Amino acid sequence: MKNWFEFQEKFHKSKLSESKVTDDKNSKNFVLFNISNEIIKPILDIAKILLEKGKLDEILVFQGKQYAEFIKVCYNNLTEIDEKKLQEWLDDPEFDNLMKVAGKQLRLEIESKHIKKKIIQCVSKYFQIDWDKADITLYVQMPGQMFPLHYDAFKSNVFTGTHDKEYKVKRWLIMLEDQKPGQSFQMGDRFINWAQGDVIAWKNVELPHGSGNFGYWPRFTLRITGEIVN
Ligand SMILES: [Fe+2]
Repeated sequence: MKNWFEFQEKFHKSKLSESKVTDDKNSKNFVLFNISNEIIKPILDIAKILLEKGKLDEILVFQGKQYAEFIKVCYNNLTEIDEKKLQEWLDDPEFDNLMKVAGKQLRLEIESKHIKKKIIQCVSKYFQIDWDKADITLYVQMPGQMFPLHYDAFKSNVFTGTHDKEYKVKRWLIMLEDQKPGQSFQMGDRFINWAQGDVIAWKNVELPHGSGNFGYWPRFTLRITGEIVN
């Protein structure tokens, strides 16, 4: 994974002008704005109920084969990536502890149309995106789990069907509870502090980021990714 990280670092720097989908307002603390507690609370309640009912998948955040397939789509027409070499990079045993032991999180199942609709109703006015094709995912990072340091892959292929509209695709992370002791999130060389309802955004492929939870409380987030529409 380290080799893949370094490959991305080099390649993404060469493509930066095409990825600038955010303005500079958020470059200081990455918290773009805050959504009030009464709007966030029902989403947090949904997440807690799903967690309690066990409606979740425990996922490896960079699961070797699946992630390799995803990369193939994301970088299509952007750069050639040798599949065999990539697989070796992703399976590097030196980082098993980071990738396969701790590199996990829970993805809550919001396949039910009713729940998805409810979440969209809560937040849709804040984000002008194509909600029909948007990716909306509730994540829980449990004590002991990490999201290893990484660069986001290019998303244009996935969300617009073509490789050259990176500027139109945007991702936000909505923090559903106040930050608790042991919950950490690093973006570039900075650590982010957050409160409930904070919407975190960054220039998607520009900054490496990752998080970890070494405390005793789960961390709930809602991740939204979609194509910006006017
Ligand atoms: Fe990411």
